[in-house]
Amino acid sequence: MNGGRILVAIGALFAVALAHNVAIVTDAPQNREVANLLGWVLVFSVVIFAGVAGALLYTIVRYRRRPGDDALPPQFRENARVEISLTLIPLVIVLVLFVLTAQALVKINRPIAGAHGVEVTARQFWWDFRLPEEGVRLSNELVIPVGRPVEAKLTSADVIHSFWVPSLAGKTDAIPGQTTYNRFMATKPGNYYGYCAELCGPSHANMRFRVIALEPDQYARFVEALKAYRAPEPKTERARRGQQLFMTRCAACHTVKGTPAAGVLGPDLSILGNRLTLASGVVENTRENLIAWIKDPTQIKPAAQMPAFPDLTDADLEALADYLESLRLEGFDFSALPRF
Ligand code: CUA
Repeated sequence: MNGGRILVAIGALFAVALAHNVAIVTDAPQNREVANLLGWVLVFSVVIFAGVAGALLYTIVRYRRRPGDDALPPQFRENARVEISLTLIPLVIVLVLFVLTAQALVKINRPIAGAHGVEVTARQFWWDFRLPEEGVRLSNELVIPVGRPVEAKLTSADVIHSFWVPSLAGKTDAIPGQTTYNRFMATKPGNYYGYCAELCGPSHANMRFRVIALEPDQYARFVEALKAYRAPEPKTERARRGQQLFMTRCAACHTVKGTPAAGVLGPDLSILGNRLTLASGVVENTRENLIAWIKDPTQIKPAAQMPAFPDLTDADLEALADYLESLRLEGFDFSALPRF
């Protein structure tokens, strides 16, 4: 009875593992390689489990002690045939998995001709993206075209981080002074969640990002618009005051295209109004969150490098928020994209 329950529980675990395996996999090609590999591991696991549990059950039932049977069962030592097969079978399984893994690694890491290049710099605790081909910079929300392989060239400005978009590909470390590559391709438009996957400090868990995948024609329009973009002049008095505050308090670290603000220590805020999230994917881009962030970033993200501005009045914060919200490319709203 108990044995039956245990078997059902183990079967359920396998089913969950299989469902999870299927669930994390979109039809992103790099993930498909990993999923195939996991499939093989699962097959071997099931076969080994069935063999071991079956042999155990058979032995327990077949050789159980029967009433009145007090004789000692046959005693023997060493069985060369069993020992050799118990060595060879795992060896063969490990070798097969080794070959399959090596093949998958080669496929995943192979440079892709014509890939879309993206330069990724990881920082405590956010992500900077440069598209050298297009000559534009994006921070924390990377925009890519659907159906074209992307080659992310990774490095770090401080400590070791790791670039991970679970629905697109596996993890790759971003290491200071080194260049590593993570290759992936989105097969459908969407808002893909990204994470830092290497413990990098107090806000490691708050170092997220998004990959926004657009249909090629929409992507081309977005890039053209971003290339031509210059921050619009503030339309209200309050936004104008916000702009003045920004230039004196924020411009040393942040860039806004078409203005004297050209700092690179912090994220590019040129199109902050289009961003879905603030604080590198941690909170929704709402006015309330924006003001809370400027007031004291560490309330949202412990150990954030941006200083707090306790001296700014509520009126100053409202003015800054007006200005920052006005920084947007008209005609691009990504909030309805499906999330992966
Ligand atoms: Cu960056 Cu963890």
